[in-house]
Amino acid sequence: MEKTFLMIKPDGVQRNLIGTIVSRLENKGFKIVGAKLMVVSEDLAKTHYGEHSERPFFGELVDFITSGPVFAMVLEGENAIKVARTVVGATNPSEADPGTIRGDFGMSVAKNIIHGSDSPESAEREIGLFFDESELVEYDSNN
Ligand code: CMP
Repeated sequence: MEKTFLMIKPDGVQRNLIGTIVSRLENKGFKIVGAKLMVVSEDLAKTHYGEHSERPFFGELVDFITSGPVFAMVLEGENAIKVARTVVGATNPSEADPGTIRGDFGMSVAKNIIHGSDSPESAEREIGLFFDESELVEYDSNN
């Protein structure tokens, strides 16, 4: 089964959307195999978003993701990376379809509620950055 990394950003946590978002992901059919509320350090933020380091918004991105707790998750399922991206919606909430998480809850590209891995390579890298192997569990679910 494929694993992907999702992170509810500080705006989603502050707006009390953790339960709503997790519920959508569970209802979709994902199996949660890792989850935690945490504050992202500046080092972790810069590593996680390293591919954007030359972008003009990099400083803003790092400041925002470290500004309050995030809810980090590892989800498992068939084709999990692509399916999660569909459920999450386009990066810019102004272009995200209604029914997607960003389409339903987001307003700005900077505060777009949730991050999701965009490829198998990113998923593996991001899971490794945010979770220790010992924090991931295996169990049978109905999915
Ligand atoms: P995310 O999926 O977390 O990956 C990179 C993030 O950069 C993206 O979501 C956006 O929140 C953020 N981002 C992209 N473009 C801009 C922008 N123009 N200004 C601020 N943040 C941006």
